[in-house]
Amino acid sequence: MMMKSIVAALSVLAAGAAWAADGTPASADAQLIKQGEYLSRAGDCIACHTAKDGKPFAGGLGIDSPLGTIYSTNITPDKDTGIGNYTLEDFDRAVRHGVAKDGHSLYPAMPYTSYAKVSPEDVKALYAYFMHGVAPVKQANKDTDITWPLSMRWPLGVWRWMFAPDVATAPVTATAANDADKQALLRGQYLVEGLGHCSTCHTPRGFALQEKALTAADGSAFLSGGVVDGWVAKNLRGDMVDGLGAWSKEDIAAFLKSGRNGHSAAFGGMAQVVQDSTQHLTDADVNAIAVYLKSLPPVNKDATKALAYNDTVAQALRTGKDTSDGAMTFLNNCAACHRSTGKGYAETFPQLALSSTVNSADPASLIHIVLKGAQMPGTSAAPTAYAMPGFDWRLTDKEVADVVSFVRASWGNQGAAVSASDVAKVRKEVGAAKAPAR
Ligand code: HEC
Ligand code: HEC
Ligand code: HEC
Repeated sequence: MMMKSIVAALSVLAAGAAWAADGTPASADAQLIKQGEYLSRAGDCIACHTAKDGKPFAGGLGIDSPLGTIYSTNITPDKDTGIGNYTLEDFDRAVRHGVAKDGHSLYPAMPYTSYAKVSPEDVKALYAYFMHGVAPVKQANKDTDITWPLSMRWPLGVWRWMFAPDVATAPVTATAANDADKQALLRGQYLVEGLGHCSTCHTPRGFALQEKALTAADGSAFLSGGVVDGWVAKNLRGDMVDGLGAWSKEDIAAFLKSGRNGHSAAFGGMAQVVQDSTQHLTDADVNAIAVYLKSLPPVNKDATKALAYNDTVAQALRTGKDTSDGAMTFLNNCAACHRSTGKGYAETFPQLALSSTVNSADPASLIHIVLKGAQMPGTSAAPTAYAMPGFDWRLTDKEVADVVSFVRASWGNQGAAVSASDVAKVRKEVGAAKAPAR
């Protein structure tokens, strides 16, 4: 209560100050810097530009690519090692066009193909924030681990020429009618296709690692699902079984704001997206993203049927009638949290029944989470970061395959069975502990 009234008093003061100083550059700049900070969260610049335990925005985070490791750069306003000497034009060229101040092309690990959609006004605000709202840090950039000849940057110029879209020239809202729904749809599209760079993870990639679609207008590959660091970044289109068809607008908004909802909880790369980025967005912006995602038609227009819950397995488990290897492994390792009904406890232990993670055609996330466990993001809307333990050192490849296949075939789920060799492959890829000897 106390805190709230102080905040309220401060914001009255701030509003008063802005009003009193109306027109003076100082208050206008403060406003612009604040807006830039908000936009930097929407763009999640911190996620890639901060090394583990490193200073904010000082770069040095290694990003794996098929060519080798690419390190993010120092984007603090330090004049020697950061971007302190960048003009607004230099900054714009890097962020939206993928070209550094000295003229070399950036690796598309920097998602400039999405940021191309950012309006010139918002680039200006971002620039103001990075120049005046971020503390300068002296930290030299690291070279990539990519060896010659792949380390030559000129092919990136060709890549840019082939795949980079034109940059935005006008603010999106200019075309929006006074209609609130249409405004939300356009705002959501702007955030998802632009700063949010959701397609970086959620869109499949083509032969040259380019995203197969950069916007909804490019076709149904857009946000139809991709694989990042051994996690399936799911289909965000209207598909019923593996997409967001069964989620309401409110479900999506709750997930982005708190990292969990009645269907699922964030894990893998998405936990950090919620932690650093989406939880900080205004309710209006989160709602706009949800409105936009709900407007994307399913990839598979014929599969319109949602999965339906089926009680048979829960009954069999309760009465001890199912003694298959998969059922026993489930009872001994999973049921305490996810329950024999597969319904879990909403917002604490996610349901496995009818879950898109469980029913995904590609079982990589499901195997990965069983092997290595996961932790939800702690958010201001839902502070407790519940965790699932990893079972890599407890369960053999066959036991994991049994339990995963059991989960995929129970309570109305319709995922195909997985084999011990599928599990062995994921175990190796994600660097999980060796299977126990039996
Ligand atoms: C998905 C990871 C990722 C995100 C998100 C990201 N960047 Fe980058 N950025 C990189 C990488 C990697 C590089 C270095 C690329 C290279 O060396 O070719 C880079 C380079 C840059 C550069 C060029 C710096 C220089 O030294 O010339 C600027 C400026 C920049 N980013 C700004 C931003 C801003 C602003 C945001 C948020 C709106 C952002 N980045 C978000 C990965 C990212
Ligand atoms: C760094 C990669 C990455 C980025 C960027 C990213 N996501 Fe995700 N997202 C994932 C992964 C991995 C999952 C699967 C794990 C999970 O469900 O939490 C996921 C899951 C989701 C889900 C849950 C889907 C389901 O069926 O359970 C939603 C909704 C979502 N993302 C929305 C977004 C939006 C909106 C953006 C852009 C603002 C975004 N994501 C950006 C990696 C990413
Ligand atoms: C101690 C409690 C606990 C146990 C035991 C447990 N889990 Fe979990 N599980 C969780 C929590 C918490 C999450 C959410 C993790 C996150 O979002 O990062 C989760 C998430 C999941 C998910 C992702 C669901 C979604 O869509 O968000 C699957 C699938 C899953 N668990 C399967 C299993 C299986 C199979 C077992 C047994 C081998 C198991 N879990 C054992 C607590 C548990």
